Amino acid sequence: MKQQLNIVVNGEPRELFIEPKTLLVQVIREHLGLTGTHQACDSSSCAACTVVVDGMAVKSCSILALQVNGREVLTVEGLAQGPNLHPIQQAFIDNWAFQCGFCTSGQIMATKALLDENPDPTREEVQAQLDGHLCRCTGYNMINEAVRDAAKRIKAQKETANSEKGAK
Ligand code: FES
Ligand code: FES
Repeated sequence: MKQQLNIVVNGEPRELFIEPKTLLVQVIREHLGLTGTHQACDSSSCAACTVVVDGMAVKSCSILALQVNGREVLTVEGLAQGPNLHPIQQAFIDNWAFQCGFCTSGQIMATKALLDENPDPTREEVQAQLDGHLCRCTGYNMINEAVRDAAKRIKAQKETANSEKGAK
């Protein structure tokens, strides 16, 4: 029997009726059409399907959708502000941190959760957060560089916003 699921996805409240066995990744991709979240291994071992749930990076293939009932989910589609990419997305582009891009949305979402919690991570902290994110075609060094570059960009963005506020 279908059950009601109420979640906020990328800031938008969503109400769905789903089978209890439905995975979060299925809700995101098949019910909501947000295909930026990728599904690769189905065995919780690649992290391509990572999204952010209430601030925490979660593998969406390894959690039932009903387990996140009432919670906030952020997917890669929720990062850009209109035409402006999120600094993490831009840093991944500028640092050549992907090739085929299949793992990238998962890496970016794990980065978002990390930088919200720790705005200035060390190389080792980045490595620990992205441990288990499999990339078959890009060097992990470039991904690590991109994350730390993103941290700098977010910091600079905040400083500019604060100085503009102070000038008013
Ligand atoms: S698809 Fe979820 S961990 Fe691989
Ligand atoms: S960029 Fe191809 S798998 Fe990571």
